Amino acid sequence: MSVAVTELDTASATTPVDTPQPIWVEAVPLDTLEADGRALVKRAGKQIALFATRGGVRAIANRCPHEGYPLSEGTLAEGIVGQPACTLTCNWHNWKFDLDSGEVVGGGDAVRIYPVEIRGGMVWVDVVDPPARARIDKALAGLKSSFRRYEYDRMARDLARIAQSDENGQRFRRKAATHSDPKRPLFQRSELAGVIDAVG
Ligand code: FES
Repeated sequence: MSVAVTELDTASATTPVDTPQPIWVEAVPLDTLEADGRALVKRAGKQIALFATRGGVRAIANRCPHEGYPLSEGTLAEGIVGQPACTLTCNWHNWKFDLDSGEVVGGGDAVRIYPVEIRGGMVWVDVVDPPARARIDKALAGLKSSFRRYEYDRMARDLARIAQSDENGQRFRRKAATHSDPKRPLFQRSELAGVIDAVG
């Protein structure tokens, strides 16, 4: 399934993205979303996938945290016994995400969810980024988990997130980007432990 990307001038969203103040932007008319079931929009430089579910509208980052494929083309499942109320499966490698929390079902990285409000028949999305410290803490938690499990790809992703969130993380970026092949381990486990100590 192919979903069209729509653009919106976000010049009116003037609140700086590095503050914790919400930045609400219009996403899509509710009746359009309900008719189509899903939508993909680009707001404030972010691709956001929206879904009309039985529990209401859900909005998530469109890029799968695994390898970046579009979650707007994923498979939605609701009301399945033993699973979250609403689960989205990425069609590329079958990672599953709870659309209420963003948590991945069965290991791996969570996907970002965006707060949603319905105002006057429009779906609005809060696109403000969490504070840098919160992003780093979340990546560190993932890094420590992947460190224990020898999950090298996940380590690389969380190191890249730390690098993007922390000016002191710049020095880790190049190594993180080239670390995804476990046959060419550029990091020793002791080095990773040092990263955790330094940034955490
Ligand atoms: S890209 Fe989504 S599961 Fe691999």
